[in-house]
Amino acid sequence: MEVKPNLNWLEKKLELLQSFDGSLLGYVNSSTGVTQLASKLGICSSQILKLDANENFFVDSSFLKGVFLEVIKNVDLRFYDSNAMVELKTALGKYVGVPSECVVACSGSEQLIDFIIQLFLEKGDEAISISPSFFMYKKRVELSGAKLVSVPLRDDLSIDVDDVLKKVTNKTKLIFVCSPNNPTGNQFDWAAIEALANASSAVVLVDEAYVEFGTYSVCPLAINKKNIVVVRTFSKAFGLAGLRFGYATAHKDFASVLSETLPYTVSTLTARYVQRLLDNIEVVQRWTNLVNTERERLLSKLRVINGIKVLDSKANFVTFKTNKNTEEVYRELLDKGIIIKNLGELPVIGHCLRVTIGLPNMNDRFLKAMPEILV
Ligand SMILES: Cc1ncc(COP(=O)(O)O)c(C=O)c1O
Repeated sequence: MEVKPNLNWLEKKLELLQSFDGSLLGYVNSSTGVTQLASKLGICSSQILKLDANENFFVDSSFLKGVFLEVIKNVDLRFYDSNAMVELKTALGKYVGVPSECVVACSGSEQLIDFIIQLFLEKGDEAISISPSFFMYKKRVELSGAKLVSVPLRDDLSIDVDDVLKKVTNKTKLIFVCSPNNPTGNQFDWAAIEALANASSAVVLVDEAYVEFGTYSVCPLAINKKNIVVVRTFSKAFGLAGLRFGYATAHKDFASVLSETLPYTVSTLTARYVQRLLDNIEVVQRWTNLVNTERERLLSKLRVINGIKVLDSKANFVTFKTNKNTEEVYRELLDKGIIIKNLGELPVIGHCLRVTIGLPNMNDRFLKAMPEILV
């Protein structure tokens, strides 16, 4: 008997993926975008200003390379090296101020978030996210077959804890809080996050991707509460988006569940490299201070440009609205070789644009372009 395979599942997955951002090539598009734009404008790629991905331009890449070369000399990649992981967790615990058994490492925070989703959400379950927030939560939750329920922030961009708790049902397994929040840039109150964990049995996942640019972390709260996990990354303050390294802190029982179930995703090379960088933490802190100083300068300059309404920021980006059609502003910036993030129409804040904090000369070019576009 001839068997006809039914590949409907493939069509369905493709359809679902396309429904998120109209493209299956999100990552490819953002990296090829520079080359395409440069050739459209007839300029070379180095003249394109790419300020859309919250990368860190303040890190010293020759310093990072130097440390890498030193590390690679002493690593033998033929073996599984569990010591590297143990020492890495000790170094991370010291950096964050938590015991090493409360730390879990992974390759990139997005992978860790995805893993936590796979662990807690099944078809029919629900997760809650404050809104607007990081677009990735919805995509990952829906890919797992669960539903994402969005709860708008208040007009002052704080969390309406009662409103979130009203949406909690017995299907709710995860609550996402991104702090500082991408894209609104603000940090949420410790008390609000604690209240969510106290009043529900769902896991509260606090995404602290941008925390080093902010004023405080809720990691100390997480290690004492069994239903909070704080996810962090080396892609932002450490400027290592290409390295793919993220980690989480949680109560030691929660952390050991994550460690036991997570596949071995961090290479010995990455583990040793991260450990060496943590030995040089004052260098990283200097870069972070430079980002924050430049952010305040950019904020103050943007605030006085007619036609711009800017949100405060505790991250390495600034989100703003314009009195001219936002899509047009975005396109006109592209015509000037400047790529920023067009966030589209969002709950609470409306149609906004987001720009990464570049080096002073980069920001000056962007600041010069804005009034020319808004006249
Ligand atoms: C809020 C937030 N969380 C997580 C990530 C993903 O970071 P990673 O590079 O560690 O996967 C990003 C990336 O921009 C982000 O904005």
